[in-house]
Amino acid sequence: MKLENKKVLVTGASRGIGKTITEKFIAGGAEIWGLDIKEPEDLQERLENAGGKLHWINADLSKTTEVEAVIEKALKESGGFDILVNNAGITRDNLSFRMSIEDWQKVLDINLTAAFLIARVVGREMIRKRSGSIINMASVVGIHGNGGQANYAASKAGLIAVTKSLAYEMASRGVRVNAIAPGFIESDMTAAVPEDARKKMIDSIPMKRTGTQEDVAEAALFFASESSSYITGQVLTVDGGMFI
Ligand SMILES: NC(=O)c1ccc[n+]([C@@H]2O[C@H](COP(=O)([O-])OP(=O)(O)OC[C@H]3O[C@@H](n4cnc5c(N)ncnc54)[C@H](OP(=O)(O)O)[C@@H]3O)[C@@H](O)[C@H]2O)c1
Repeated sequence: MKLENKKVLVTGASRGIGKTITEKFIAGGAEIWGLDIKEPEDLQERLENAGGKLHWINADLSKTTEVEAVIEKALKESGGFDILVNNAGITRDNLSFRMSIEDWQKVLDINLTAAFLIARVVGREMIRKRSGSIINMASVVGIHGNGGQANYAASKAGLIAVTKSLAYEMASRGVRVNAIAPGFIESDMTAAVPEDARKKMIDSIPMKRTGTQEDVAEAALFFASESSSYITGQVLTVDGGMFI
């Protein structure tokens, strides 16, 4: 198994891509600390199915002044993480001229500031052990921008810049830092997209389909495992060829 005995922190583990990554990594032999703003309703069932390989942390990542303490506590309890998946993210879409400063700030706080703070706390411990892999969930929007998503695009572009900067800082200490840039992936985040917009989107994707959470989880597994042991500071686009 690719992740045998690896300890992994996954943020936004309750739903969507984070949940799928958690399941895939457990199947790969990992022990997961799933973090989310609240417990999923089926947490008990998930814990039982995971047979001791899943632990849960409730934390609101928008409370950026509390994030480091939460992660320090998780580090103590786990004994240190081998892999971090900074996956939690939100959207608060609006045209820039109508966007409130609250919606701008909240997206930046959760998608960028919290991810940076977590990577710093977890990364420090990885450096001591001279090994680790940090995976940041960015977006194609962070590379190309998108109308109505200036806050989200800025947060994901920032996360890509943080990924590359941390990769430079940590490479000589055995810690790799990479990002995934998903395109249009089926999840609660994209479920609200109206049918005609969805159709247009699919028409614009060379592979003529939306992405699955499994598609993204496979990319995360690649960056988490030794299969990518000589790769750092990279952004892997998972978008069916939407941007080639
Ligand atoms: N889906 C796509 O097409 C797509 C494309 C590009 C990038 N991405 C990125 O991929 C990641 C996962 O996306 P997804 O589609 O799986 O989204 P999702 O279904 O909305 O799941 C996001 C998760 O993050 C959690 N979360 C939200 N705010 C939080 C907070 N303040 N503190 C802690 N956890 C919080 C959510 O918890 P609740 O359940 O309580 O809300 C949820 O479990 C995000 O970073 C997103 O930007 C997604």
